[in-house]
Amino acid sequence: MAFALEGVGLRYANGHAGLSDITLSARQGECLALVGPSGAGKSSLLGVLGSALVPTSGQVRLLCETVPSGRALRQLRSRIGMVHQAPPLPARQRVVTSVLAGKLGQWPWWKSLLSLAYPQDMAGAQQTLARLELADKLFSRCDQLSGGQLQRVGIARTLYQAPELLLADEPVSALDPTLALATVQLLVDDARARQATLVTSLHAVDLALRCFDRIVGVREGRIAFDLPAAEVTQPLLQQLYAGESPQATPAAQPIQATIQVGHC
Ligand SMILES: Nc1ncnc2c1ncn2[C@@H]1O[C@H](COP(=O)(O)OP(=O)(O)OP(=O)(O)O)[C@@H](O)[C@H]1O
Ligand SMILES: [Mg+2]
Repeated sequence: MAFALEGVGLRYANGHAGLSDITLSARQGECLALVGPSGAGKSSLLGVLGSALVPTSGQVRLLCETVPSGRALRQLRSRIGMVHQAPPLPARQRVVTSVLAGKLGQWPWWKSLLSLAYPQDMAGAQQTLARLELADKLFSRCDQLSGGQLQRVGIARTLYQAPELLLADEPVSALDPTLALATVQLLVDDARARQATLVTSLHAVDLALRCFDRIVGVREGRIAFDLPAAEVTQPLLQQLYAGESPQATPAAQPIQATIQVGHC
């Protein structure tokens, strides 16, 4: 089991309930897309899965472990990777250093320290950047990149980390549609090739349906549905995004039927 949440609730310091009674699990190697309206709780859920947010109720198991503290937590986190919508990369840092930082939690301290001044695996960083069409940016500074390039450097850093549980929060929001499709496909292919588990939030529902087998709808801090992509219908999506009642009629077709291109 890659993760198992049982009855998880998350209340923020201001009293707002970000998540309520979430029960969700995934096997190692599964790829899930989280969809739902703004404010639904997708980032909150990813925060709990990444151990950055501690639930106020319920049980969490990540990579078969109850979430520990101290050194054991740092070790667990080195096996979990998070792609942020806006990667928190130091403005003056070189791209190569940002990518290699993906392994800081796995390398011995002396190698991590050395890598900050003398990049330790230049070839590895370049190969990873090439997968994201950024090989020529190896020595660029992060503040010299466009928003979409910076977003892909964040993805490269997590791919370089090669985590067992790969989490991504709106990883392609700054990319054009062609690059967005190729990049989501790359994340799915990478996870499948390594038997890693991937959980990605996406506002682009068409991408979610094209690239993922399993779609989890989130609304008002709860799981609204958890279905194979082929069973996600237009009425279900209308209900998810607009709160409208689904029309339970035979005309309700799986939305995939309207999509022309193949599976990732
Ligand atoms: N630090 C915080 N303190 C208080 N409330 C928060 C905090 N972060 C998020 N929330 C609230 O929790 C709810 C869920 O937020 P979350 O960021 O998880 O939504 P989301 O589905 O990721 O939205 P979006 O699609 O806009 O990124 C929202 O109502 C939000 O206002
Ligand atoms: Mg969010």
